Amino acid sequence: MSGQGKTTAQDGVAELDEAAARARLAELAAVIAAANLAYFQNDAPIMSDAAYDALKRENADIEARFAHLKRADSPSEQIGTQPGEGFSKITHAERMLSLANAFEPADVADFVASIRRYLGLADDAPLAFTAEPKIDGLSLSLRYEDGQLVSAATRGDGETGENVTANACTIPDIPQRIANAPAVLEVRGEVYMRHDDFAALNARQTAQGGKVFANPRNAAAGSLRQLDPAITRARPLRFFAYAWGALSAPLAATQSGAIARLGELGFVTNPLTQLCTDLDALLAHYARIEGQRATLGYDIDGVVYKVDDLALQARLGMRSTTPRWAIAHKFPAELAWTRLEAIDIQVGRTGALSPVARLRPVTVGGVVVSNATLHNEDYIAGRDARGAVIRDGKDIRVGDWVQVYRAGDVIPKIADVDLSKRPDGSQPFGFPTHCPECGSEALREEGDAVRRCTGGLICPAQAVEKLKHFVSRSAFDIEGLGARQVETFYTDGWIKEPADIFALRSRYGAGLQQLKNREGWGEKSAANLFDAIDERRRIGLGRLIFALGIRHVGEVAANDLARHFGSWAQFIDCIDRAASEPAAHAPDPRARKALLPQSPAWAEITGIDGIGEAVALALTATLSQGAERASVERLVAHLDIQAPAARVQDDSPVAGKTVVFTGTLERMTRAEAKARAEALGAKVAGSVSAKTDLLVAGPGAGSKAAKAAELGVATIDEDGWLALIGGTGDG
Ligand code: IVH
Repeated sequence: MSGQGKTTAQDGVAELDEAAARARLAELAAVIAAANLAYFQNDAPIMSDAAYDALKRENADIEARFAHLKRADSPSEQIGTQPGEGFSKITHAERMLSLANAFEPADVADFVASIRRYLGLADDAPLAFTAEPKIDGLSLSLRYEDGQLVSAATRGDGETGENVTANACTIPDIPQRIANAPAVLEVRGEVYMRHDDFAALNARQTAQGGKVFANPRNAAAGSLRQLDPAITRARPLRFFAYAWGALSAPLAATQSGAIARLGELGFVTNPLTQLCTDLDALLAHYARIEGQRATLGYDIDGVVYKVDDLALQARLGMRSTTPRWAIAHKFPAELAWTRLEAIDIQVGRTGALSPVARLRPVTVGGVVVSNATLHNEDYIAGRDARGAVIRDGKDIRVGDWVQVYRAGDVIPKIADVDLSKRPDGSQPFGFPTHCPECGSEALREEGDAVRRCTGGLICPAQAVEKLKHFVSRSAFDIEGLGARQVETFYTDGWIKEPADIFALRSRYGAGLQQLKNREGWGEKSAANLFDAIDERRRIGLGRLIFALGIRHVGEVAANDLARHFGSWAQFIDCIDRAASEPAAHAPDPRARKALLPQSPAWAEITGIDGIGEAVALALTATLSQGAERASVERLVAHLDIQAPAARVQDDSPVAGKTVVFTGTLERMTRAEAKARAEALGAKVAGSVSAKTDLLVAGPGAGSKAAKAAELGVATIDEDGWLALIGGTGDG
């Protein structure tokens, strides 16, 4: 950036004429964009922070003098904090889902059986599926309005993706106009690169000293996410259409019909898509596709099965992020041998000591692998969680030749050891009994495969991991405050616990001086960070509970708890009461069950559908622990906690009611009944208590019906339930 006539902020802004100012602004925009990219996306800074700040200041000074010359892509409008900041965001009209995985034929059989069960279909009732290759690229959603392509968005987190419309327009497989289409049509599919195109691109990149891509998928992703569409145009990208989002009119009544329609509309669909009428046909088509894998000319990593009948797809609906009506049957993992150079121990958010294999780098299925998980100390020693022998009892030692495998995106694992190559004098790995980070004792609880650091809040590794979890996407998701920033802030003592995040502005915000001077932070990004933090003071109860990072409390459990309790006060009150009840201190599940009558709060928590004893034990233990609790209280004081949105109809006759199903349901399955009830705003509980409003009892109802009668809980049968909610069992 030592261009001719270079002017620095100190000496020259005042002397610039208009033409020189325009030229200098263009130069600054390019250099600052390159620096942002190098720093934020490639983790490879190309200038010092001081030089970067000076350029930004110079840019601002010139803009102050020549306001009318300010560029559309002015660096002063870009915060340059998060990857992908160059693209605007698009919120998908319908969420972009991912797929559950199957690895074995037995998993596919389970998938088919569970669909039959859910739908209440007899074994011999027809049930057809489509089977098609799972393309290893990146998904894209194209929105057409009145036949015109109006936007293209990457998947992002499924709700919001990046606006890559200009780039999508350069891909020949993507039509910009389509005839005879519904007024609104979102077409979804995969952007990918063929092997020959990939090889040629890498050869060109090498010749030009550009970036060489590890595999076709990375090349496709890197090419689609170019800020300059001219670069994307020069990259050989392709697109297969396989799904859709929002629609103003249905495409067809079946998946296969809809795909055929997309083909008629001008989209490329995969020629290996086939309709299969039973499990054997699915597995046969899988074998056929796997047989062709090496000669297809593009990467696939499995076969996707989808229920063909769209009315059945609608009845099956989805879990939190994946549809019940589809599954990806992955190809077997790819393997390679290499040397195990070291075993490191990482300490996680809940104190778990996780052994990580450091490997001599090796290519496994096109990706260079240098780390792999070793699970836990039993796995290293050659035993599974139940003490049974694995790998013929071979243990894993530093210096060993080990077999590494990876399946899709899954973290690489160590599958096997070659004893013939074991170096002389090698020793079994001694798993530490103390935390390598804080020195506290690390203990294994009975029945737990994992050794855990007992240091709690004093352990820096746990604290940092907790903070990273706290700011993660499904938790507080604070823009500009990711894992890397949290780590730096922790190291520098600015943030020790979640509450400190919300005190950042008041402690360090004065004049933004301190933050401003930090690596990677400019005045604007500092101000933006404080604003982003303030925005998150208002937080949903479910997100908050999840963000606390309590063991066993995942996103689903946190949301179940939030929906049940509705407010922080009621949640914490119930946990406090439960923590002091006898059941919470009983030695085993039987004893806890026996103590239920004297433990109403415990019974309430464990009675929430989906909440088991492990969650209840973790909640009561963690939140009654003095230091932990104090830290949570300090956090809550900063927040405005929102009741969970009634994500559902609140005017239905069962909205807000607690319903229990028991006995055999004949017109729908239990899972479907539960999903319907929840969609109508009811809470579904697993056991009858004084809080139950309604028991739906089918034939064979036993103790729950008796309990309901005893408590005077209204009880109806399945027909009564269907009459009440105004539906039939047929969807
Ligand atoms: S269907 C509701 N079909 O796999 C289901 N996905 O693991 C939506 N993918 O995000 C996806 N080939 O990027 C579907 N033939 C195919 C696919 C496919 C590749 C990708 C897609 C999705 C991911 C899920």
